[in-house]
Amino acid sequence: MTTTVRRLGPEASAASQRLGHEAFGVPASTTGPPAEPRSLDLPGWHWWGVTEGDRLLAQAADREFDGWFGGRVLPVAGIAGVTVAAEARGRGVLGPVLLALLEGARERGAVVSTMFPSAPGIYRRTGYESIAGVRVVDVPSASLAGLRPGGEVTLRRAEPVDAERVRRLYDAWAAGVDGALTRRGVSFTTTDEELVGGPTGVTLAEAPDGRLLGYASWLRGRGDGSGPELVVDDLLATEVDAYAALLGMLGSFASVASTVRLRTTADDLVRVLLGSLAWTTVQDELYMLKVLDVEAAFTGAACSPALTAALGFHLSGDVLPGLDGAYAVTASGGLVHCERAVVTGDRTLSPRGLALLVTGARPCRDLRALGLLVGGDRAEDATWDALVAGRVRGVLDHF
Ligand SMILES: CC(C)(COP(=O)(O)OP(=O)(O)OC[C@H]1O[C@@H](n2cnc3c(N)ncnc32)[C@H](O)[C@@H]1OP(=O)(O)O)[C@@H](O)C(=O)NCCC(=O)NCCS
Repeated sequence: MTTTVRRLGPEASAASQRLGHEAFGVPASTTGPPAEPRSLDLPGWHWWGVTEGDRLLAQAADREFDGWFGGRVLPVAGIAGVTVAAEARGRGVLGPVLLALLEGARERGAVVSTMFPSAPGIYRRTGYESIAGVRVVDVPSASLAGLRPGGEVTLRRAEPVDAERVRRLYDAWAAGVDGALTRRGVSFTTTDEELVGGPTGVTLAEAPDGRLLGYASWLRGRGDGSGPELVVDDLLATEVDAYAALLGMLGSFASVASTVRLRTTADDLVRVLLGSLAWTTVQDELYMLKVLDVEAAFTGAACSPALTAALGFHLSGDVLPGLDGAYAVTASGGLVHCERAVVTGDRTLSPRGLALLVTGARPCRDLRALGLLVGGDRAEDATWDALVAGRVRGVLDHF
């Protein structure tokens, strides 16, 4: 029987939910009636699948996000729910469904695609590479208790009226972090009340003039020793005093909660502020990226205003039709520009090399060692690295 790759609509809801449960786990059984199949036409979700007759063999969703890269926002296709039916694994149905999904995402204007893989090896052939991560860590509360701000910082509990200021503080943090989602748009629908009322508390750190310098969004555990005692989903600040005040506040729970569980970027500033080595990873997830539109992925990114460069490279081996080819990249006036062009030289990037290079995740030296960059003038490698110098990567929103 022949297989078909297609967009999935509401008619596939029940089969899609069954496939998802098989792979990722069935919800705990209840005595009530079976849950309604999840809807496949939720805003911001685009489901793709492979069918054989009336059987669903594979599925994957493209989720609409926006993400910060190089100081500006790019449309992102976030991959979720990737599943191949147990009996169809190894039959080669994953590649076609991912390709159809990525072509659809490209048509709707996505410039990069990202995901949290269950295993990175699944997605390398499609051109994804790890550029950042989310790390959940346990820190003894006592190690935070002594942290104090050097200057004056006031802590107070957020009210719904503060929600937009909290979002703007997040924006200010995220704007400097390659990979961070904007938390705005169709896929982020949290109301003001949910933002400050969902957690046990959102604590604001304010300057004497009322400016918001940081916040911590925290959830108290059960207090009976089962599960984490104090979970902090966001702890973000724009100044060190706000970090110290918020961490010190969390440490003040030491007599009743011995551990604080922090969600961090893999390379979080909080680590630099701690005086103790105690920092235990409890969950470590990689964030992978693939470029869907080479010109848009480079063009408009900020670079050093002191850098003037005219460079070129070839992309080779991409699964997306038409993406391979020669590209000219220039830097001037603090901005990068990229367009298709005839370029001299044989500097050639693989899709995975491009993902690492465009986000500054790895220098050219590493790309060459990994075989993801070949040819070209090695003396030019430093200029390519300078194009993305100073980038920091991170993401806090799991999907
Ligand atoms: C992961 C899954 C979608 C792969 O489907 P599949 O039909 O077995 O995939 P393929 O045989 O086409 O393999 C694709 C690639 O993934 C690799 N791969 C598959 N499972 C892997 C694993 N668990 N760890 C590392 N690599 C894996 C294969 O080696 C292959 O690599 P290649 O492209 O270099 O040859 C399927 O096993 C599945 O549904 N698993 C359960 C749900 C899941 O983990 N989904 C992924 C969520 S991010």
